Amino acid sequence: MSASEIYKFYNDQNVFITGGSGFVGKVLIEKLLRSTNVRTIYVLIRPKKECDAQKRFHNIFDNILFEKLKSEQPEFRNRVVPIHGDCTTTNLGISEKDNERLKSEVNIVFHVAAAIFFNQHISTAYAINCKGTENVLSLCKEMSVLKVFIHVSTAYSNCNRPYVDEIIYDTPSKYTQVENLLNRLTLKEARKLTPKLLESWPNTYTFTKALAENLVRDKSGNFRVGIFRPGGVTSTYKEPLENWSDSNSGPNFVIRCASLGYIQIFSATHSRIELVPADLTIAALIATAWDVYCNQDKDKLPIYNYVTSNDNSLTICELFSVVCLQLRNYPSNKAVWVPNFRTVEGSPMVYFFIFCYHMILGLILDFLRLLCFQKPKIFMVMLKTQLIIKDLYYFSVREWNFSNKNVKDMWGQMNEVDKHLFNFDMGSVQWIYYLRNYFKGLRVYLMKETLEAVPEAKTRMKRY
Ligand SMILES: NC(=O)c1ccc[n+]([C@@H]2O[C@H](COP(=O)([O-])OP(=O)(O)OC[C@H]3O[C@@H](n4cnc5c(N)ncnc54)[C@H](OP(=O)(O)O)[C@@H]3O)[C@@H](O)[C@H]2O)c1
Repeated sequence: MSASEIYKFYNDQNVFITGGSGFVGKVLIEKLLRSTNVRTIYVLIRPKKECDAQKRFHNIFDNILFEKLKSEQPEFRNRVVPIHGDCTTTNLGISEKDNERLKSEVNIVFHVAAAIFFNQHISTAYAINCKGTENVLSLCKEMSVLKVFIHVSTAYSNCNRPYVDEIIYDTPSKYTQVENLLNRLTLKEARKLTPKLLESWPNTYTFTKALAENLVRDKSGNFRVGIFRPGGVTSTYKEPLENWSDSNSGPNFVIRCASLGYIQIFSATHSRIELVPADLTIAALIATAWDVYCNQDKDKLPIYNYVTSNDNSLTICELFSVVCLQLRNYPSNKAVWVPNFRTVEGSPMVYFFIFCYHMILGLILDFLRLLCFQKPKIFMVMLKTQLIIKDLYYFSVREWNFSNKNVKDMWGQMNEVDKHLFNFDMGSVQWIYYLRNYFKGLRVYLMKETLEAVPEAKTRMKRY
């Protein structure tokens, strides 16, 4: 490891991570523990209705994602510490003791936490994505040994532009104006005004992520800052295990619903899709903190567009055509209908027919359920699914051009040992190899259905 510059950078460092209980955060924690010698990782974690923060923290490590780490480093739990709190609260709502500890010890911060649902209420999206970022930055300003702060954004924060450079684009309304307005409005009024507020952004997620980037630029302190913008993060390619994901967003949502029979037709084009496997994404994110601290000017705020199409493009139709072949090979035991998933060329009119088709199918299937004395539920699920699909439509019929010069330059700065330890070269991904087992991974890790149950599901499928 002595030849790894990135390993040296992380050696004996204390890291603070927000969003550690989420999909991206878990992969980040695992890789940092397995491939670097960080001293401690502090993980911000909030309680949820059904579970207190301590239990939620322990649950993170029950995930199969951590099995390899457990076998290689059984004592790894000594290096992770929960920090109970919530981004949206002043001072993150953390205890005085934790506050002091973070202020005096933390060297590297990854701000990963976010509200990622596309059409979350604008006030919630703002509170988490913007106010949350501001609160984390305020704490960072008080950290006496902080070296670098990395803000995780998204490649789609500027999806209202056809070309996205590695720069911060000013938003037409400043985040302060948006905040002042939201403070004055009731939730109902804010919802009504949302389409106007969003201007050319398609949803509250991308809009508030764009505002947050502006906020990071304006409010960071006397430490180095970088913004990392990945495309759609998908299942792992190889590390620590193949095809792992527990995310139910983007293409995973479509594929899961298709396997259950809730989506039969999807409107897609031959547009490029910016998918980036989670393990490569995290390798790039870890390298970003090193690059910002070791290779960039102190007064610069480098942006890293981590995308696919410049090096190894994949289209939406290619993705779904490979994956849909697997749906019948590994049918789900919970499917309500045969997964006859197919894609058609998209236009608003085609989308309208697809919507109607699903609604009629939902009514027919519910009628059949009633005849079998079962509770009708399929129509409602299909309706909700189609409403989410409507939100994805914007992304399934467009493509973007990205500059990824900073990512390329960072790769160029890395030595061979680091390139091996922290491989994020999208050119090395063999899409066919990856996609062949994509659904198998979702079935096991996201849908929690074992492969042993496949024969039973196939028999069940024959009855339809
Ligand atoms: N997934 C993608 O395809 C993708 C693509 C591009 C960029 N990104 C970016 O990557 C980051 C992580 O995304 P993800 O897919 O991992 O999302 P995720 O699975 O929904 O995780 C979100 C994380 O943020 C935490 N969080 C949300 N609100 C919080 C609050 N008020 N206080 C403390 N923690 C809070 C969540 O904690 P709880 O468990 O308590 O809810 C969770 O740990 C986001 O910044 C997102 O914009 C993701």
